[in-house]
Amino acid sequence: MPRGILGCLLTLGAGFGIYTSGCLATTVSRRQCQATLDTATTVANRLQSAYYSSTTGNYNQGSLWTDANAVEDLHNLMLAAGTTTWASVGDTSRIGRGAQNSNTNWQSILGGSNDDAQWIILALWKIADYRAAHSQSIDAFMSAAGTIYNFIAGQWDNTCGGGVWWSTAHTYKNAITNELFLLTSASGYLRTGNQTYLDNANKAWNWLSQSGMRNADGLWNDGLVLATCKSNGQTTWTYNQGVIASGLGALYAITGNASLLDAAEITLDATMAHLTDNGILKESCDDATSSSCDHDQQIFKGLWTKHVQYYLDQANDAARTAKYSAFLGAQSSGAFHYGKNANNDVGSVWYAPDQGGSIFSPEASSSGLEAFVSAAKYGPC
Ligand SMILES: *[C@@H]1O[C@H](CO)[C@@H](O)[C@H](O)[C@H]1NC(C)=O
Ligand SMILES: *[C@@H]1O[C@H](CO)[C@@H](O)[C@H](O)[C@H]1NC(C)=O
Repeated sequence: MPRGILGCLLTLGAGFGIYTSGCLATTVSRRQCQATLDTATTVANRLQSAYYSSTTGNYNQGSLWTDANAVEDLHNLMLAAGTTTWASVGDTSRIGRGAQNSNTNWQSILGGSNDDAQWIILALWKIADYRAAHSQSIDAFMSAAGTIYNFIAGQWDNTCGGGVWWSTAHTYKNAITNELFLLTSASGYLRTGNQTYLDNANKAWNWLSQSGMRNADGLWNDGLVLATCKSNGQTTWTYNQGVIASGLGALYAITGNASLLDAAEITLDATMAHLTDNGILKESCDDATSSSCDHDQQIFKGLWTKHVQYYLDQANDAARTAKYSAFLGAQSSGAFHYGKNANNDVGSVWYAPDQGGSIFSPEASSSGLEAFVSAAKYGPC
């Protein structure tokens, strides 16, 4: 049985969080680290004042999907800290406006990007969690998320045995789109109890697990070669290694099948072993003197930390939490001591001192924010 939406109504006291995320609360609580939350708040304030326009609802230099993650992060932080500072962003952001206007043409806004669309579902749900915790209506947000989800579910076909296409152009099937489909499907079931979501979650994992995209190291490559339906062996971006875990964690929360957690941890452990420099995440495009990550790639490491947070929420297991706690703390420390500058922007490079090689952008600051919020809950204090 799903843990229901009523969990949203539990009050989040300052300095405490519910051990599992958002609507999926259980009775086990875990203390948030106030000092790390304070860092997150400082970075969020800078992000909002330097980059966000409440007039346009966009971040300067941002894109729809990275903006959606920033909005999700602010709500994740407010829920953790018991604050209300950025509540208006749920209304003024582009996705918040879209959700609250019943005439919104989501397919036009999404521009055919089936991966981007699913980040927006996750952000709309997080706004809904926040609003539910403050006794506000969530109907518009749940409805918009459902509309987008149904469109994405319709992008699945039997080419290469299954999978959602990366875009409506139907030229590529890849890991992130389908990892997100596993996560939105399993989370959708936990939120609504609607069997269609669970059927899709099982379908997504069955397909992913046989897709060949997880390589011998345990890391997910980018996607498939359409002509052969084999892994293309392309870049093992950090975010792919985190979103698979949060999706499997959500499916575990439904089924109680702990093998799904073991599968998730093959990839989390491989991330720590292979995608780090001195214990700090390093994207392949990160470099201590001159990074080449584009705006999308600048947010990937933080997404890994955010989705490990969501994974641990669902695993809800002290031993599994203990396994990743120090690592999450180290990411927060790297982002703070190495990445952050005197203006409280967080640079894109976490592993090299003095903001070495860092690019500064709303995506990079959001990435850092995600590392702080995740570590506040699960890192050492
Ligand atoms: C379950 O979800 C599917 C897909 O979103 C939808 O078409 C269907 O109407 C839903 N069923 C119920 C009972 O809400
Ligand atoms: C549990 O999950 C594993 C990993 O996907 C799968 O092989 C196994 O069949 C599942 N067990 C049940 C009872 O569904």
